[in-house]
Amino acid sequence: MSDPVTVSFARLTAAAKGVLVVLTDESLAFGTQAQKLVKGADKALTRAFDAEKFKGKAWSALDLLAPAGIEAPRLIVISVGKAADLKPKDFLKLGGLIAGKLPASAREASVVLDLPGTKISADAAAEVALGISLRSYSFDRYKTKKKDDAEPTARAVTLLVSDEAGTKRSYAARQAVGDGVLFARDLVNEPANVLDPPEFARRAEEHLSGVGVEIEVLDDAALAEAGLKALLGVGQGSIKESRVVVMRWNGGAKDEPPVAFIGKGVTFDTGGISIKPAAGMEDMKGDMGGAACVTGLMYALAARKAKVNAVGLIGLVENMPDGAAQRPGDIVTSLSGQTIEIINTDAEGRLVLCDVLWYAKERFKPKFMIDLATLTGAILVALGSEYAGLFSNDDELSARLTQAGQETGERVWRMPLGPEYDKLIDSKFADMKNTGGRNAGSITAAQFLHRFVDKTPWAHLDVAGTAMSSPASDINKSWGSGWGVRLLDQLVKDHYEG
Ligand code: BES
Ligand code: MN
Ligand code: ZN
Repeated sequence: MSDPVTVSFARLTAAAKGVLVVLTDESLAFGTQAQKLVKGADKALTRAFDAEKFKGKAWSALDLLAPAGIEAPRLIVISVGKAADLKPKDFLKLGGLIAGKLPASAREASVVLDLPGTKISADAAAEVALGISLRSYSFDRYKTKKKDDAEPTARAVTLLVSDEAGTKRSYAARQAVGDGVLFARDLVNEPANVLDPPEFARRAEEHLSGVGVEIEVLDDAALAEAGLKALLGVGQGSIKESRVVVMRWNGGAKDEPPVAFIGKGVTFDTGGISIKPAAGMEDMKGDMGGAACVTGLMYALAARKAKVNAVGLIGLVENMPDGAAQRPGDIVTSLSGQTIEIINTDAEGRLVLCDVLWYAKERFKPKFMIDLATLTGAILVALGSEYAGLFSNDDELSARLTQAGQETGERVWRMPLGPEYDKLIDSKFADMKNTGGRNAGSITAAQFLHRFVDKTPWAHLDVAGTAMSSPASDINKSWGSGWGVRLLDQLVKDHYEG
C-alpha cells in the first residue's frame, strides 16, 4: 500500500504543529479554539480575505504563506459554507479537500476540527480522517524519478478534535474500510505482467489471512475437477493459469447463511480471438476491478470485525489470443450443466461469472449474491462514470443498494431485466449464446448471468465506468478507484449486521 499519510488525533486544545488548517463558514466566523489559534494573524487574515474577495463560499479555501503574527509556516482556511447543513458525506469530502490543499512540501500539518455554533461529532471527525487518507493515495511504485517538490514520502496530519477517544474508536473501523479501498486501488493499478491470476491469488492470501479471513485457492486442476469449464475456456489461451479464490469471514452467528460477493477478475482482457482494437487496450489491465473490490471488501469486513458471515469469490483469468485459445463457435458446458455457444470471445466476463455464481450458490446457499464486474462498454454509454449499473431479481436488495449508494456517494442506477431481453441470447446450437447483439448490451449481459442464480436474491453491478479511469474526485486521484468497497461495507452495516 502506498498511503504516504499518517493521520492521528489530539485534543482540540493540544498544541498545533506545522501547517495550520482551520475551518470557517459563510460568515467567515471561527470556532472558539480555531479563533484562539489564528488570533495573532487577525490583520493578515482580514487583508488576505479582502485581497482574495474570499466570502466563505462552501468548499472555497484560502492559503496564507508565513502569516505575520502566528508561528505556523502556512495557514489554510477552508470554508464549509452553512455549517448547520453539513451531512456525513460532506465530512469525507472535507477530508479530501484538506489533503488536496496541503502542499507536497509539508511534512506536518494540524487540522483544527472546530466550527462556530456546531460541534463536530466523533464520527464526523473520523470521516474527515478517512477522506484525508483516501485522497492522499497515489500509485507511484514504478516511478523511479521523484519530482523535487514531492520530496517527503511521509506526512503526519494531526486532527485536533473535541472527542479524542471517541474519534479514535470511530476511525479504527473506518480505517479498516479505507485500507480495503487502497488495497483494491493497488490491485487495479498494477500492470498485468505483474498481477496475473496466480499473483492476484497470492496477494489476496498474503493480505487477508493476517486479519482472519479463511482463504482457499483453486488452481487449474482443482477448477477442472470441480467443472468450471466456462471459466477455464476463457483462460485456456493464456500461458498463465486461472484461479478462483474463496475468502471467508465468519463474524456472524454460527448457523447464519453467509452473504456472498463475487468479482470478475480478468487480469488482462485482449478480447481473445475476437481481439480488441489497439487504442486504449492498456486499460484492460483494470478488467479485474470487480475482483479487486471483493478482495478489498473482505479485508475491510474482517479488519473491522464486522458481525456478519460473508464469503467473497473471485474468478481470475487472463483472456489471450493463442493457438490454444477458444474460438467463436465453440460450445462449452458450464458448471450449471447449461451449454453456451461462444459468439464473441471478448464477451468473456459473463463466462467467468456464470461458473463462479453457480459455484457460490451451490456451495454456500447464500442469503444473497452480489457480483461486481467491469462487464460491458455499453454501461459507459448508458451511465458514464457517475453511476454503476444495477441489475437485480430482488426489489429489496436493489433498494438497499440504492440507499447505500446515496450514503456513500458510490451510486447505482437500476436497469431492467426481462424475458424479452432474455430471448436475445437464445442460441441455434446450445442453450444460450454469450452475446445478444448490438442493442441493450449491458442488459443482455446481465440477462445471461441471471440464468445462473436460480431463485437466490441477486444483484449484478456493472462497474466498467466506475472501477477505473473515472474522473478524479475529492477523495480519489487514482486511476483505479477502489469503487464498491465503501458501498458494500455500508450495505452490510445498514442491513445485515447485528
Ligand atoms: N472488459 C470488457 C468491458 C469493458 C469495456 C470494461 C470498457 C471496461 C471498459 C468486456 O469484457 C468486453 O469486452 N465487453 C464487450 C462485450 C461485447 C463483445 C458483447 C463490450 O463491451 O464491447
Ligand atoms: Mn472482453
Ligand atoms: Zn472483459
